[in-house]
Amino acid sequence: MLARIAATLALGAVFSTANAEPTIVGSLPAEADCKRCHADIWAQWSASAHRRSSFDNPYYRVSAEAFRRERGRAASRFCAGCHEPVLLPVLERDVDPASPEAQAGVGCLVCHSIDAVDLSGNGGYHARVRTEVHGARAAILVEARLCAACHKVGLRPDVTGDRWLRGQDDWDAWLASSSSGNGAGAVFRAPSPTRCQDCHMPLEPAAHDAAAKKGMVRSHRFLGANAALAHLRGDRDTEARIAAFLAGSVALDLFVDGAQAVAVLANRRVGHRFPGGTNDSNEAWLEVTARDAAGRVLGRSGVLDRDGALDGDAHLVRAQPVDGDGEPLRLRDPQHMRGVAFDTSVGPADPQAVRFALPDGTARVEARLLYRKFGEGYARRACGRDVACREVPVLEIARAGAAVSQASANVRVGGTGSGPAPILDGVGWRVLVERGLALAGALADRAEQALPFLEAARDAEPDRPEPLLALARAMLRLGRTDDALAFARDATRRAPSHPAAPWLEALALARAYRHAAARAPVEKLLTLVPDDRAALLLAARVFGVTGDPARALAAADHAAALDPDLDEAHYQRSLALAELGRTVEARAAEAAWLAHRSADEIDLALRDKLRARHPDRPDESEPVHLHRLH
Ligand code: HEC
Ligand code: HEC
Ligand code: HEC
Ligand code: HEC
Ligand code: HEC
Repeated sequence: MLARIAATLALGAVFSTANAEPTIVGSLPAEADCKRCHADIWAQWSASAHRRSSFDNPYYRVSAEAFRRERGRAASRFCAGCHEPVLLPVLERDVDPASPEAQAGVGCLVCHSIDAVDLSGNGGYHARVRTEVHGARAAILVEARLCAACHKVGLRPDVTGDRWLRGQDDWDAWLASSSSGNGAGAVFRAPSPTRCQDCHMPLEPAAHDAAAKKGMVRSHRFLGANAALAHLRGDRDTEARIAAFLAGSVALDLFVDGAQAVAVLANRRVGHRFPGGTNDSNEAWLEVTARDAAGRVLGRSGVLDRDGALDGDAHLVRAQPVDGDGEPLRLRDPQHMRGVAFDTSVGPADPQAVRFALPDGTARVEARLLYRKFGEGYARRACGRDVACREVPVLEIARAGAAVSQASANVRVGGTGSGPAPILDGVGWRVLVERGLALAGALADRAEQALPFLEAARDAEPDRPEPLLALARAMLRLGRTDDALAFARDATRRAPSHPAAPWLEALALARAYRHAAARAPVEKLLTLVPDDRAALLLAARVFGVTGDPARALAAADHAAALDPDLDEAHYQRSLALAELGRTVEARAAEAAWLAHRSADEIDLALRDKLRARHPDRPDESEPVHLHRLH
């Protein structure tokens, strides 16, 4: 049975997205009187990024000050709703970074006063600051959408000076994943749904806290990946906790295919895309080393130079926002952002493969997935001469190694999929499925390379649905509709309530224009994952095309309520409303669509500009692309 969290969302009217901003009734103090009785929680929060979200954080200050200079101080209300709500009333003046108000961060009374949240994010919360916080507790405190208020950014035209763009957004990535109970297409599902709070606020022992139950409180450390702030203040304990939190959250698997090493990244414990948060400044990359039989280094990729700068063609795991010239943003400067040139972040259900050409004579290859919260250039700008600020810790998330002779002899990856099946060679069936899923994500003419791995996994675990579902996905990629349908239906027989089976079936049918036949799997899908936006949009399309505009509208309305900025939801609404003769509403829906449209043609043009400026770098926008070792 699929327990569900997101289904409990109380959905109100579709919010106006024009100007989401906090509404704060009462005034927030720079420091709340909580420490006295909640010493443990206070200490945890003091070590958290929420504590340092304002002008006392040099990495934030450099970016916020640039924004204030270029767009005017009043415009930075946009940042303040999330980063420093205490400063909202005085932002039009100069900010003294040493004042208590500029160091308040996201304090106790921010979260503990919020009683409603706008799902457009952008700090669109409603807070009622009370003198007594105990007693009636706002229901929203234990819901994931509390976090949506600030962990979902939409860059409005008044911020970019150009078109509307999606900023960092862990909320929607979570809502689209099996961690929330949704994740229609996820082949591997989270064992049970988890809220943001479950992963980021686990129970922790507390000896001095009035709220401790059985000696435990919900941790207010909000561990993530920001080891830079901990390092800056010499907080080794927090640095070690962050390293432990990150370790193993993404799995790295390495295998050899002829003269290439293929690294496969699979998201194992991140309830949203990896890396989460500010994808543009987080530096997560693959370090790869090829050695000869004597252990000598023959070539490397992803190496830091003496100043700590990362080599220009390392494989970065990230989204790459760019300015109007196609140049990567340097200072987290949304005012210059014009689009996203590529996105190599790892989705919760989409393993990713990257190829590395191996030098002649390679006997062994090693790889590590490394993470640094800020790159060298950003840290230099933010920190000036402050050494502790500039040396941002590099944390290892995963490592893998492969011997060339042995591995390449064992694993045959034929171009046709008809050669001898690869043997398991010690890796589990799950890793084989992840390899297959990653390779199937490649351009269609290479996706066949996925098949031997997936067939081997199916042969090893004939009763499990995952290898079959992955085979269905690969067939869909290859355009083999009937094979995709056969595998999806086979998976349904083995796991009747796995959402990916009706998802793949419906998708295959819809792509083949067999919309009437797609209705049954779509209906089933909606009972399994009723709050999945991708499922709702597919349903809206299928219902619309098969002459049922009322149901198409219901599905699209629901998707738009879950994400008021979802362009495709407004597009589907406009079609259904027009069909129903409600022309005025149809026109409004069309306007909402155009206002949020993710303009692929602009992103592609920006990507071309980036490539023209850096012709030496590999094309990160191509799945399963090739890097060279130096
Ligand atoms: C004089 C001591 C005292 C102070 C000051 C205090 N608390 Fe508490 N708080 C308690 C005690 C005792 C409990 C446990 C009550 C229980 O479990 O029924 C508690 C429980 C809580 C709870 C969990 C129960 C609930 O009502 O939701 C929250 C949240 C909370 N406090 C927040 C705060 C915040 C925020 C502040 C600062 C604005 C604060 N407290 C200041 C004593 C205090
Ligand atoms: C970023 C938001 C946020 C901030 C900031 C925050 N809290 Fe909380 N707090 C929560 C959430 C969410 C919960 C409930 C978690 C759950 O039960 O799922 C909670 C729970 C609590 C509880 C109940 C104890 C428990 O174990 O559940 C206390 C007490 C509390 N907070 C006190 C504080 C104090 C004191 C501060 C400031 C030092 C603070 N909080 C800052 C979000 C926040
Ligand atoms: C009022 C706005 C606000 C709310 C509500 C809020 N956050 Fe945050 N959160 C922030 C800001 C701002 C930062 C970034 C601070 C910085 O580094 O400048 C942040 C940082 C974080 C980080 C990053 C830590 C790191 O190491 O990088 C985590 C994890 C996090 N929040 C989790 C949560 C969760 C879970 C919730 C809901 C229970 C939540 N937050 C609610 C504003 C908020
Ligand atoms: C299944 C566990 C899980 C769930 C659920 C989850 N996260 Fe995370 N989150 C992680 C892990 C692990 C990381 C560290 C890896 C990374 O940075 O992506 C992380 C990282 C983050 C970061 C830090 C990024 C940074 O750059 O420092 C933020 C912010 C965050 N999560 C917010 C959220 C919010 C908001 C939610 C709910 C909408 C949420 N997370 C749900 C596991 C989870
Ligand atoms: C919707 C809420 C929201 C808004 C609006 C917002 N931010 Fe953030 N910002 C966050 C959260 C949450 C994080 C933490 C994510 C992470 O650490 O990866 C963050 C992280 C950052 C960081 C990363 C470094 C750090 O530790 O602080 C910078 C810099 C930053 N924001 C600058 C800005 C500026 C400048 C603006 C206004 C132009 C802005 N933000 C607007 C929520 C917001």
